[in-house]
Amino acid sequence: MLAPPPALAGDAAAGADVFKKECSECHTTKEGRNKKGPSLFGIVGRKAASIPDFNYSDALRARTDWVWTADKLHWYLSQPVKQANPGTKMKYDGLDDPKALDDLITYLGTNH
Ligand code: HEC
Repeated sequence: MLAPPPALAGDAAAGADVFKKECSECHTTKEGRNKKGPSLFGIVGRKAASIPDFNYSDALRARTDWVWTADKLHWYLSQPVKQANPGTKMKYDGLDDPKALDDLITYLGTNH
């Protein structure tokens, strides 16, 4: 790869705050620690629905071809996720601030 994708060019410290505000009700970034949603440890580059002890929806389990790249996360989280993946258990209306989303995904990329 020649240049990092724009989604990884954000501010990780600001992204940690976005995570706290938007995601931490349901997710942690600690390995093996699931809440309402699965642990997001190592999420960037992870295959969808691949945490063995998390009870995913059939809708997400069906997405065996999805890999959570920065671009994929950007696409998924910028809209109501029920639109991105009808039938998912994740109740999230999307983050419409592209800068906050870049920061968030940069932060997530530091957790591995
Ligand atoms: C109200 C709870 C809730 C909030 C808020 C939430 N999520 Fe989720 N998330 C879930 C649930 C539940 C799942 C499992 C979805 C399924 O099985 O369909 C999930 C799944 C995911 C997945 C797929 C994980 C995998 O292993 O394939 C990603 C990525 C994700 N969430 C990221 C985020 C991020 C980033 C935020 C904050 C911007 C966020 N979520 C906010 C509940 C939530």
